[in-house]
Amino acid sequence: MSDEADLSVVYSGAVDEVLAAADASRQSQSLDVVYDFAVAACLDSSSVVVDAGCATGERARELIRRTGCRVDGVELLPQLIEWGEAETAAAGMADRLRFQQGTILNLPVPDGHADLVMCTDVLGLIDDLPRAVGECARVLKPGGAMVCHVTVATDRMAVFEQAELDASQGTVAASMNKALLEQALTKHFVIEKTVDLGSQHRLHAIESGNNETLTNLVRAARLMSWPDTYRPVHGDLAYRTALTEALWGVYQLLGKLSPVVWLLRRP
Ligand SMILES: C[S@@+](CC[C@H](N)C(=O)[O-])C[C@H]1O[C@@H](n2cnc3c(N)ncnc32)[C@H](O)[C@@H]1O
Repeated sequence: MSDEADLSVVYSGAVDEVLAAADASRQSQSLDVVYDFAVAACLDSSSVVVDAGCATGERARELIRRTGCRVDGVELLPQLIEWGEAETAAAGMADRLRFQQGTILNLPVPDGHADLVMCTDVLGLIDDLPRAVGECARVLKPGGAMVCHVTVATDRMAVFEQAELDASQGTVAASMNKALLEQALTKHFVIEKTVDLGSQHRLHAIESGNNETLTNLVRAARLMSWPDTYRPVHGDLAYRTALTEALWGVYQLLGKLSPVVWLLRRP
């Protein structure tokens, strides 16, 4: 037994008391803080937003619903743009959200175009952070704001877990390092607000009745327990990618990954 442990505590009622205390729900925040920060940046129906790495534009459409702004969405993958355009037309927002294919490393947007840049869950995939952040600053008007959300790795993340994420999900370990991210961001921006959500948004979802993370925990357990059932049928890469996809939210719930949201200002 280690010197630190005390078996009389392990088998004491004190432990049950702590566990019972942890049954009580706490005030956990959702990822809606992204929109709260955008609204705090004073967006209205005359504002122009660039959503860098917009995927199908789900967040852009939510921002339009909340503020009436106009969004230029830039996305790398043409397939996501095709789906996004169909979803945007179905939502009656084609006049507010326009998609362009392109990369955050060379945004197809003129200098000083936007009042706000939104960049959510993208920078962790980018291996040239200084260039990506520089591009976000370039397309902003002086005094414009950026809302940036990156899932960072914490000290609880094991090296092999990060390596498997990088190999199967395309993440870049250095770009998920909070200190290195802030170093790149503060070259062009002043940090006005930061929220480090830790486990909170996953807890918030579970407490709101959304069981996605718990479902993925069970999926991950099955995938890890019986790899020979899944790998030969679906292939090694699909198996590993599905496993890290399932583990992503579980790692957030356990505090190995933490979504951080910054409100930044271009001086
Ligand atoms: C995790 S998704 C986040 C999508 C969206 N921003 C959101 O929060 O729901 C990451 C997105 O970034 C896009 N992406 C990856 N590399 C990119 C790049 N170099 N330039 C622009 N988009 C990129 C991916 O195709 C994907 O749509």
